[in-house]
Amino acid sequence: MRRRNLKGYEDLPLSIVILAAGQGTRMRSSLPKVLQPLAGQPLLRHVVNCARELTAEDICVVYGHGGDAVPMAFEGESLRWALQSEQLGTGHAVMQAMPQTPGGNQVLILAGDVPLLRATTLRRLLDACGNDEFGILTVDLENPQGYGRIVRDDKGVQRIVEEKDTSEAERKIREINSGVMCCNANALKKWLDQLDNDNSQGEYYLTDVIALAVADGVAVHGIKAEDVDEVMGINDKTQLAQAERALQKRRVEALMAKGVGFADPARVDIRGTLTCGRDVYIDVNAVFEGDVVLEENVVIEANNLIRNCKLGAGTVVHPNCHLEGAAMGANCELGPYARLRPGANLADNVKAGNFVEIKKSNIGPGSKVNHLTYIGDTEMGSGVNVGAGTITCNYDGANKHLTKIGDGAFIGSGVNLIAPVEVGAGATVGAGTTLSKAAPVDKLTLARARQVTIENWQKPKKTPKPAGKS
Ligand code: UD1
Ligand code: CA
Repeated sequence: MRRRNLKGYEDLPLSIVILAAGQGTRMRSSLPKVLQPLAGQPLLRHVVNCARELTAEDICVVYGHGGDAVPMAFEGESLRWALQSEQLGTGHAVMQAMPQTPGGNQVLILAGDVPLLRATTLRRLLDACGNDEFGILTVDLENPQGYGRIVRDDKGVQRIVEEKDTSEAERKIREINSGVMCCNANALKKWLDQLDNDNSQGEYYLTDVIALAVADGVAVHGIKAEDVDEVMGINDKTQLAQAERALQKRRVEALMAKGVGFADPARVDIRGTLTCGRDVYIDVNAVFEGDVVLEENVVIEANNLIRNCKLGAGTVVHPNCHLEGAAMGANCELGPYARLRPGANLADNVKAGNFVEIKKSNIGPGSKVNHLTYIGDTEMGSGVNVGAGTITCNYDGANKHLTKIGDGAFIGSGVNLIAPVEVGAGATVGAGTTLSKAAPVDKLTLARARQVTIENWQKPKKTPKPAGKS
């Protein structure tokens, strides 16, 4: 898609190159750096998602360290992969992507370890540069340690010097290279061919391309990112943890702007997509994974893990519950200490309480399963009451079987429902029953030994010990 940029040029087609071949020695991990998880997703996933927001003709990922593990994590996605079999530096990495990159294209280079970039910032960088100009995304840092420094003179950006190659004066420069650059593909190919590895690390630095561009009389624009977090490069576990908090803060702030309340914005983790209605309230230590939808006025109390679930309006989840692949209707109550497993489907006004586990079951409107119960493979009608300690015996060691419970049934405490079995509508099942046949509609069914009292029973007496022994 062609569009006119701020300079009035028509944009060239865009090729994006993402550098992801490095080992990430400073991570001290057997997992390649770009697969380290940030908000539950590989670092590289965040960069790829951002790249996809721009209308690029092609996205090429340079991989190498960790071998096929990196491409495998993105199997089936439309990405081009270029192998850098030896990690000889960022310049060398870009070279691996260039043979397949059309010469006339604009190239945007991203790093797989800079995951918090926003597409709007990249768009601003691209728009600031003409088709034959060079753009670098920079930022001023309080502590620039570890980053390449931007060396400017009165004409503008002159070159980049890596931390390990800086002079004392250069080390004081606070404007740093984010690793994000853009320029014309043909010009880039030419400059990459001129790189050498005559530096402290013996690597082909991509950053040396800037001085070559300046020498060719090409204008180099250093565009500053507004948000310091956006250009954070992740090299070690401390930076990974900092990026995690920065990303979580960003997600929580977006939700607060839509009317979601948080007890403490710093104590929540969103590792997927959390969609909330108005006046949802989330207490501390809630973890959301996958796709979670909370309709308006849902309350999530402390310490809950919720993965791939949808909760209806006004539903309350009390502390310490674990929900996965479940759906709850409106105005339900869950927990404390409850577990909903995949396929648990609770209609409106259901209550499932303490130490209750529900799996692959439909629970009808207004039904109550309040204490110490396991419900699996069950079709439960509306207005059912299940007593404490009742369980469905859904598994015979080989197969799972269905339990059916009709509307308005009352099941006493400590009942074993041996599936397949059916409890009729309005039936009462007495406490302690082990139900192996159908309980008829509206009747009381009991299956337990009759109570007896032994009249002449004697308490056992202790046998006296033989003398002399202790
Ligand atoms: C690089 C920049 C530095 C910048 C910083 C921003 C260079 C020489 N330095 O330094 O100016 O301030 O990023 O975060 O470019 N990679 C490869 N192949 C390689 C080496 C690296 O694909 O041979 C990839 C890595 O996987 C990583 C990215 O390139 O995603 C950056 O490499 P890294 O070693 O982290 O560079 P920095 O030292 O952080
Ligand atoms: Ca880095």
